[in-house]
Amino acid sequence: MPATALRCRVCETQYPLDPIGVCSRCFGPLDPVYDRDEQRRLVTRERIEAGPRSIWRYADLLPVAPPAEQSLPPGCTPLVQAPRLARALGVRELWLKLDTANPTHSFKDRVVAVACAKAQQHGATTLACSSTGNLANAVAARAAAEGLEAVILCPADLEREKLVASAVYGPTIYAVDGSYDDCSRLTVELSFEVDWSFVNVQLRSYYAEGSKTLAFEIVEQLGWELPDVVVAPIASGSMFTKLHQGFTDFVELGLVEGDLPRLVGAQAEGCSPVAKALAEGGKVKPVRPNTIARSLAIGSPADGALAAATASSIHITPEDEIVDNIALLAETTGVFGETAPAVTLGALRAAVRAGEIGEDDRVVLLVTGDGLKTPGLVADRLDPVFVEPDADRILETLGGGVR
Ligand SMILES: Cc1ncc(COP(=O)(O)O)c(C=O)c1O
Ligand SMILES: [Zn+2]
Repeated sequence: MPATALRCRVCETQYPLDPIGVCSRCFGPLDPVYDRDEQRRLVTRERIEAGPRSIWRYADLLPVAPPAEQSLPPGCTPLVQAPRLARALGVRELWLKLDTANPTHSFKDRVVAVACAKAQQHGATTLACSSTGNLANAVAARAAAEGLEAVILCPADLEREKLVASAVYGPTIYAVDGSYDDCSRLTVELSFEVDWSFVNVQLRSYYAEGSKTLAFEIVEQLGWELPDVVVAPIASGSMFTKLHQGFTDFVELGLVEGDLPRLVGAQAEGCSPVAKALAEGGKVKPVRPNTIARSLAIGSPADGALAAATASSIHITPEDEIVDNIALLAETTGVFGETAPAVTLGALRAAVRAGEIGEDDRVVLLVTGDGLKTPGLVADRLDPVFVEPDADRILETLGGGVR
């Protein structure tokens, strides 16, 4: 396996490839280090293409060996063109990355699979997390698939569908009377007291790397070409920064040539600390989230500063546009996304308005989560015509004219 160590992003101290959450010298975040020469020798397009149809086809670029038995593996989700939405927005070529096709319908299955593989190498029996909803679903399902216990801490007022979609797998759920940021603080405190493997605390370096597979797949699915623009949501900023690193890995390994894509970030009006930091040129100032995009409601984003530094721009989607964007995506593409992709679509619309998307740009929009988990927001679109089981009654509703 080409991964050799963990290294602090701030002071560059190196650590063994163990479940260590932060640098013990400066509390900086840790990233895996790879033996690039070995990767160059090992990794080819052919080797990747011959691999399993899951994130594990990129195992040489991940910090953990694939599990011997790959149950419920995520990844290799569809990348589809969206010509009607492209025309509606005035974009020449628009692709949707449908990460709703993962086992629990969000991109979080990728990150959890990588973190869990590491946890199991270290004999973990309990997988745990703080979550804005989707991560909880992914942790609970992964634990069920692997025969582990699961513990979840999430805000008590999350969408009920997201809580139920975790509960069905049998985890212990702590519904916390507080925000996601409260849950996150609790997991850090608890990680010193209990031997649960928190995917986004001690396993964060491994977990985060899983998001690189989104970039790898996009390039492979475009026929080993780079897109010009990728539009992606930002909550903690982890996925956004790893997207960039994933594209960089492929270029550095000679798997693809060309300019790195411009990354356009998306945040909701009610929780936009990273967008504001980029606009104002200062530090990321924590906020108290107040947004209907619950999956993106992280007020104190761990990777916010790096996300701001990585982005070519970040756009804020107004709260009152989010539901309209869920509908626009559904009506023009047949894809029912949750609030996160609706916020992302808002950023794409804003980027088009700002003239940031060129005539020849090939754009990829990430659909990271599924609308079936947040149906309440569009419930008032349900307005059926109630009828007797009689064809004449239906014809009457057509106003006499046969269509
Ligand atoms: C559907 C969805 N998209 C995007 C994100 C953002 O991920 P990150 O915290 O890595 O920025 C989340 C986070 O929970 C999510 O649930
Ligand atoms: Zn350090």
